Amino acid sequence: MQAQSLKVRVDALRDEAHGVRSFSISRLDGLPFERYEPGAHIDVTSPSGVTRQYSLCGDPERLDSQIFAVKKEEQSRGGSRSLHEEVSVGTELSVGAPRNLFRLEEGAGEHILMGAGIGITPLLSMAYRLAARQARFTLHHFARSEAHAAFMTLLTREPFARHVKLHFGVQPDELKPALDACLRDAGANAHVYTCGPSPFMDLVVASARQRLPADAIHLERFKAETAPAPAADASLKSFDVQLASSGQTVRVDASTSIVAALASIGIEVDTSCGEGVCGTCMVDVISGEPEHRDHCLSKAERASNSVICCCVSRSRTPVLVLDL
Ligand code: FES
Repeated sequence: MQAQSLKVRVDALRDEAHGVRSFSISRLDGLPFERYEPGAHIDVTSPSGVTRQYSLCGDPERLDSQIFAVKKEEQSRGGSRSLHEEVSVGTELSVGAPRNLFRLEEGAGEHILMGAGIGITPLLSMAYRLAARQARFTLHHFARSEAHAAFMTLLTREPFARHVKLHFGVQPDELKPALDACLRDAGANAHVYTCGPSPFMDLVVASARQRLPADAIHLERFKAETAPAPAADASLKSFDVQLASSGQTVRVDASTSIVAALASIGIEVDTSCGEGVCGTCMVDVISGEPEHRDHCLSKAERASNSVICCCVSRSRTPVLVLDL
């Protein structure tokens, strides 16, 4: 069940802001990329061998190339540092197929995109689509300063400029009122999309919830913060996972994950982030009740208990039957 990776070549590099570089890639075999929806991300394996997820931030109508942007993290464990320091034009990389956990709501009457820092990336691909469709949208771009704001050349020109509002150097105590102001005039049929550091997104969600229903608010996290604490009375220390196809069962004890338990009986579930963020390890649930510990399923998916992220989530019932 390992996802297929694709060999690509880096065609262009561009410094988009302080510490942020974009990478334009094309397939080594010369074929077009598969179509993707705005908000999608791909796995990128850096020269150091580390695989990380990066949002696609180019025009989703263009299939001859894909663009992703990487912020060089000071605490990098090899992913962003390697991509910044070991990749030049002509470098070959491996990437995965696009996956999307952060989709535009096509039926919305208005779209409000709220990004902070590198969180601008998935919103940019959304902006391409919305501009092409002449949809009603606003893109709020928060950054420490203009030098830290990625894609300024692009965003200050049409077709984006008329939709973009820039917010530089907003201090922590000013952020909540600034976000309230961005959302004050949101119509009843507006949808809000946010990406950036968790404290920023938490405030966006809090502000949006004063005006809009929960299902009109969409967010994407780049990395796991602390895992949600399981309800002590509902969480079982160990449980069984059963394969729907064969009936085979494996015990998942307190010290192991579903992914690891399945691997022990030769069932490989594809993984990427390993921390409940990317959705790579999602598997359909046939019966049983998952204890969701991920950061990527939608509210509807959680409520339906129809899928589980096997890298971090567990079970509230003694047996979980998975579509494997
Ligand atoms: S591997 Fe990323 S969510 Fe499980």
